[in-house]
Amino acid sequence: MIGLFERLARPFLHALDPEDAHSLTIKMLACAPLPRAAGDDKRLAVRAFGLNFPNPIGMAAGFDKNAEVPDALLRLGFGFVETGTVTPLPQRGNPRPRVFRLNADRGAINRLGFNSQGAEAVLRRLAARANAGGIVGINIGANKDAADRVADYVRLIERFAPVASYVTINISSPNTPGLRNLQQAGALDDLLARVIDARERVTRRAGPTPLLLKIAPDLSLAELDDAVGIARARRVDGMIVGNTTLTRPASLREMKIAKEAGGLSGRPLLPLATRMLAETYVRVESAFPLIGVGGIDSGTAALGKVRAGASLIQLYSALVFRGLGLVAEIKSALLSALERDSLDSLSELVGADAAAVTAEAWPG
Ligand SMILES: Cc1cc2nc3c(=O)[nH]c(=O)nc-3n(C[C@H](O)[C@H](O)[C@H](O)COP(=O)(O)O)c2cc1C
Repeated sequence: MIGLFERLARPFLHALDPEDAHSLTIKMLACAPLPRAAGDDKRLAVRAFGLNFPNPIGMAAGFDKNAEVPDALLRLGFGFVETGTVTPLPQRGNPRPRVFRLNADRGAINRLGFNSQGAEAVLRRLAARANAGGIVGINIGANKDAADRVADYVRLIERFAPVASYVTINISSPNTPGLRNLQQAGALDDLLARVIDARERVTRRAGPTPLLLKIAPDLSLAELDDAVGIARARRVDGMIVGNTTLTRPASLREMKIAKEAGGLSGRPLLPLATRMLAETYVRVESAFPLIGVGGIDSGTAALGKVRAGASLIQLYSALVFRGLGLVAEIKSALLSALERDSLDSLSELVGADAAAVTAEAWPG
């Protein structure tokens, strides 16, 4: 039913400005009586960060920034939902237009700049569903005008750790000037020391909440060495690789839209994001699990992420072009891969191709 509804709605949504289409989609998800997706095959279950995921496919951050529809997304078959990015205080983000579709490339460029209803509104919604079950994480970011950005992350961890399944520290959005500098060694070490400390304080009253670090696919390999080394030394629970890219691959066809400032996502991001995932995997040496995100638009792409080192995956942009049916398609592709090799669990495939991927020519 949802498939038919979507097929009818998609041409209409595509005729709208991308941001208007997105707001309308959130409204529809908030009020439509959604059928619950079929239960997941046990072989798709993943245990990571101390959590039990029914399947490895997550909704990436940015779709449900204000935690308005996490339960609708879980019903539709996602194994987990990452809400946010949320900032401490409400902020509007950059002036519109700020989201662009690259139809011929099956990609998107956004420069939203952390538009957020702010911590209080999001916290109320997550607290109201905290006992509803399902894995719902929160992705946190600093306000653009914050005098002390690290203090913003500390504050948000203190507020959200008790109501979220996990918390992602997002220092990789390209649309808040200077934010990505927090990925540099000295700044990152200071940030992680303070946020881990905040997490430990909250753990005493709320229990342990996994902390994940989301990085940009645009780090140099030397910067990645530092980031992974610090993440391991500070004992984060996992990393997400990665956010949108500021690069513009030579293969892009929508040349005019490609000139828009902002982060590129969707299919054109797949080679770079998968390469960075594999590079991260070989450096992490199984110290913690990785979430692979960037350009997944098919079962093959999803399996490629797992084989490059992802224990879990997330997606966003492809839903605009492929619709929600993609989630079921990826599940059956992953199950077929397991059957082909007579395997009982995806964990046996995680990282199988990581070394080979890092030996390929750098994606251009
Ligand atoms: C419109 C849009 C908004 C996004 N907002 C956020 C965000 O608030 N926080 C974040 O960490 N990532 C955000 N992202 C990045 C996605 O979570 C994801 O890392 C990226 O889009 C790559 O995945 P994809 O190719 O499947 O879209 C956003 C992406 C898009 C397209």
